[in-house]
Amino acid sequence: MNVPVTMTINGQKYSHEVEPRLLLVHYIREVVGLTGTHVGCDTSQCGACTMFTVQADGAKITTIEGMAKNGELHPIQQGFWEKHGLQCGFCTPGMIMTAAQILERHPKPTEEQIRHQLEGNLCRCTGYHNIVKAIQWAAEHMPAKK
Ligand code: FES
Repeated sequence: MNVPVTMTINGQKYSHEVEPRLLLVHYIREVVGLTGTHVGCDTSQCGACTMFTVQADGAKITTIEGMAKNGELHPIQQGFWEKHGLQCGFCTPGMIMTAAQILERHPKPTEEQIRHQLEGNLCRCTGYHNIVKAIQWAAEHMPAKK
């Protein structure tokens, strides 16, 4: 039996009837059509796919598609561009969304804080060095909070 869910993604409200076992990552990718959200390891190790859609009922969610505004990259996206923070790019949306959380909690994070908080995000290509630099760049370029 399907269950009704409503949530706001990138400022837009979505309502659907979904199977209770539908994973949130599949809902966002396949039902809503925002494919910037990636399934990570696909074995429940990294946690990217461990939430059911019904658990997010009523939630406000931001995905990578909600970061750029009016055709302008978000400072974190710009940081990845400036510092070459990606190679294949598969991990990049998750890295950027995690970076947004890091900068929300620590507007001027130390390298150690960045590395510690990126622990749950796996990158197979970069060695993380330029990802850390990209987040440091973003910290210097984020607009001041009002
Ligand atoms: S850039 Fe390829 S996995 Fe991170």
